[in-house]
Amino acid sequence: MAKKKETKLDFGSKWDYSAAPESAGHAEIKKEYGLYINGKFVKAEGGKKFASTSPSSEKHIAYFAEASNKDVDKAVKAARKAYNEVWGPMAPKERAKYIFRIARLMQERAREFAVLESIDGGKPIRESRDVDVPIAANHFFYYAGWADKLEYAFPGKTAKPVGVSGQIIPWNFPLLMAAWKIAPALACGNTVVLKPAETTPLTAMKLAELIHDSGLPAGVVNIVTGAGATGAAIVNHPDVDKVAFTGSTGVGKIIQKAIAGTNKTATLELGGKAANIIFDDAPTDQAVEGIINGIFFNQGHVCCAGSRLFVQENVKDIVIKKLKDRLSTLIVGDPMDKNTDVGAINSKEQLATINKYLKIGVEEGAEIYQPNCTLPKKGNWCKPTLFLEASQSHRIVQEEIFGPVLTVQTFRTIDEVIDKANNTPFGLSAGVWTDKGSKIFNLTTKLRAGIVWANTFNKFDPTSPFGGYKESGYGREGGLQGLSAYVKLN
Ligand code: NAI
Ligand code: MG
Repeated sequence: MAKKKETKLDFGSKWDYSAAPESAGHAEIKKEYGLYINGKFVKAEGGKKFASTSPSSEKHIAYFAEASNKDVDKAVKAARKAYNEVWGPMAPKERAKYIFRIARLMQERAREFAVLESIDGGKPIRESRDVDVPIAANHFFYYAGWADKLEYAFPGKTAKPVGVSGQIIPWNFPLLMAAWKIAPALACGNTVVLKPAETTPLTAMKLAELIHDSGLPAGVVNIVTGAGATGAAIVNHPDVDKVAFTGSTGVGKIIQKAIAGTNKTATLELGGKAANIIFDDAPTDQAVEGIINGIFFNQGHVCCAGSRLFVQENVKDIVIKKLKDRLSTLIVGDPMDKNTDVGAINSKEQLATINKYLKIGVEEGAEIYQPNCTLPKKGNWCKPTLFLEASQSHRIVQEEIFGPVLTVQTFRTIDEVIDKANNTPFGLSAGVWTDKGSKIFNLTTKLRAGIVWANTFNKFDPTSPFGGYKESGYGREGGLQGLSAYVKLN
């Protein structure tokens, strides 16, 4: 039978949108930020500092203090003192008031936070405005509500705080991860030393200003900036009771070794390589939107990204055709433009990692597809990419790329796709697209993933637990389960 000629859509070069930039005029950026320790903004020991630049414009943003071991020690001491003298003894309903206040201030300053998040990290303003900032505020609201109800969270038990929590967060959701970490810790009566990632410290320091304005007693939350060495100083500090980490599996392993044999507890939220599974009975258009959202949201810098697509063989052609068409409509570019779908890659290092995997994929024999879109001249960019004809043994299928790169495989039977989906070192999330509820229930029990989305993807809510199996880490954040990591039960 003669093959039907494919109609090629070329939105990339023929459709021009007028720019719709979000204004940044209202956002205040200081020349230099100190460390927030014991309720004060202070210089790092020896005045050490580093710069953050915008990954889209490559412009210098501000200088940030680089915290040494001594600075971290000051922060931990402040947190311990606040824990012993103020926050620990405080009535839970009083603690709740502060956390509610933080949530409300975040809503009031939402626009500023969204703009700064996009400038510093490169994510599209639509996402920082509609996802990162509102969900961050919601986490504070949600956990504020639990603060004086812990006896209902843990019936028949007495929940005591753990103490001083050392928290280290990554660069993909800077403000949101800070909220995920700080809100439950405070609600359970703990104090905090938090370190943002070195490429995205801006909204964390804005959060420090907000927390300061909220009147939270000095030392309850301390925020220190710096790179891996600062993070290690927090992990290794003998007076830290609990470590909460989100980041790479490699650093997660280092942390686990570092705390072995100590009394420290930990939650580790690490990498992922989620399967997004499309059955032949799924509504194709919705599934294609779900695939796009699953992998291109936040440039694919998402630990739970749907980075491995599994399409049932009999619908492969139509799904891939629609996927390619949709890919060519994606607008890659200025994060501050409200039309932008895919923003800047967070750092030069991360872009190099992604490009390395693009090369590996081609060498491994997968078929690369990129739409015909134009990229800005300055900044870190990567075209949305598909790898067709990928196979289980490929490194691009097994390893976390953390960029806008989707591998595509096919399957025939449910058992086959379960085997393939579970055949990775990770187990954080998965997606299932089907018309049949029975298939959904079957898969949610058999997929080794902490989160399974059905006919949707990348849905985050403060009330639902998030976390993984295997090399994706352990412990849960969010929901009732997210409280457990911050309490000792008697
Ligand atoms: P990373 O794990 O090095 O960075 C995450 C945080 O850990 C940062 O705040 C960093 O300063 C801190 N850190 C680094 N070394 C540390 C140490 N020895 N002790 C304590 N803290 C330390 O991640 P990186 O290098 O920026 O990204 C590499 C890869 O990791 C990415 O390509 C991606 O695959 C994965 N990743 C996964 C994330 C997730 O959400 N699961 C987030 C960020 C990265
Ligand atoms: Mg930056």
